[in-house]
Amino acid sequence: MPWLDEVREMLPSIRNKVYLNNASTGPVPKPVADTTKKLIDYRAEYGDPWDHALDRIMELKKRYAGFIGASKEEVAYAPGVTYAFLVILSSLDLDRDSNIVVSEHNFPTSLAMAKAMERRGLVKEVRVVRDRGGYTEFSDYEKLVDENTSLAIVDYVGWLSGYIEDLKALSDLVHSKGGLVISDMFHAIGVMPVDVKKLGVDIAFTGSYKWLMSIYGAAMIYVSKDILTRIEPRYMGWLSIDDSVFQRRQRGEDEFQRPFNALNYRYPEDASRFELGTPALTAFTALDESLKFLIKYDAPGKYQGHTKKIADYLAEALIDNGYQLYSHIERHSPITTFKHKNPQETTGKLLKEGIEVSARPGLIRVSPHFYNTKDEIQHLINTLKKIDKQ
Ligand SMILES: Cc1ncc(COP(=O)(O)O)c(C=O)c1O
Repeated sequence: MPWLDEVREMLPSIRNKVYLNNASTGPVPKPVADTTKKLIDYRAEYGDPWDHALDRIMELKKRYAGFIGASKEEVAYAPGVTYAFLVILSSLDLDRDSNIVVSEHNFPTSLAMAKAMERRGLVKEVRVVRDRGGYTEFSDYEKLVDENTSLAIVDYVGWLSGYIEDLKALSDLVHSKGGLVISDMFHAIGVMPVDVKKLGVDIAFTGSYKWLMSIYGAAMIYVSKDILTRIEPRYMGWLSIDDSVFQRRQRGEDEFQRPFNALNYRYPEDASRFELGTPALTAFTALDESLKFLIKYDAPGKYQGHTKKIADYLAEALIDNGYQLYSHIERHSPITTFKHKNPQETTGKLLKEGIEVSARPGLIRVSPHFYNTKDEIQHLINTLKKIDKQ
């Protein structure tokens, strides 16, 4: 069976519709749902699958590290991307006279975080690189980043525009001034090849429920080993100390044989220093299963030969049919957004026709993943034209 048919067979939720809304949430593959159900059933029937789930989380960290070009010591789990920001930003000792540079393309969570830090006087100023109409201008970063920039927070792919930032150039620029770079890669990891080392960022996050096609409740943190031990979490938990149950388990030691040295803790050498408490075992087990699925079918590897092609086809078809793209024609991810007078009403009508995309203010966002087809894109265009002619 061709790979595309095989993949689609495992996605029951898209069977009867054209699903082009992966930037909101991804469909959950059957093996991921089965694994999740099995874990819950086990808990109900037999008791806590603690040992199994802990091992699975350690496997996930290894698998995820490989997926983004990092080492397992550089990755940590978090309950969500916003919480990942919280644990990292609350741990950075930034100079109070410094500035944070952010992009207006970022998802609101990091903008609100940076602004909250400014309000509390934790940094002097938040500098915003403005949207130029679906893209940012690198020269705007060059104008705003200076010797007082302690941090730049820039999403790899814009959640609305799909704009792909030049993170390598940005990392070089910020590092040359002595600052750090954090990137939210929620809209890249899973659908595009990502190598955090090549991109040069210091810290990166992603979540489970969009392009990684898993359930809610899991996110991953990457912190480069070059800065890892310099960042001391401000707040600690029973799992972020050296000699935690995970660390003991990894050494093959009984987890509860010795007391925990929580009053006189040391920070672990690896990124587990950012893991405060018990992870949602089901969500992380599911995430490991979805990673296996994405790796098996080489979802990011399908980007050049397939996913990007259908996104480019979509962008061109929109233009040919008189729609005005908001996404940058050359540097957009599979997220392809265009301007529309009635996004809410039109996406509602599309949904009635069995096509799911999302409405955003003045915009319609279409976000195909590696399992979508050119025929589905064509069907969207035909249906959209029909609705707009009514
Ligand atoms: C780029 C980006 N970052 C973060 C979030 C929110 O993540 P979480 O719900 O895990 O806090 C979203 C949600 O849409 C997003 O698009």
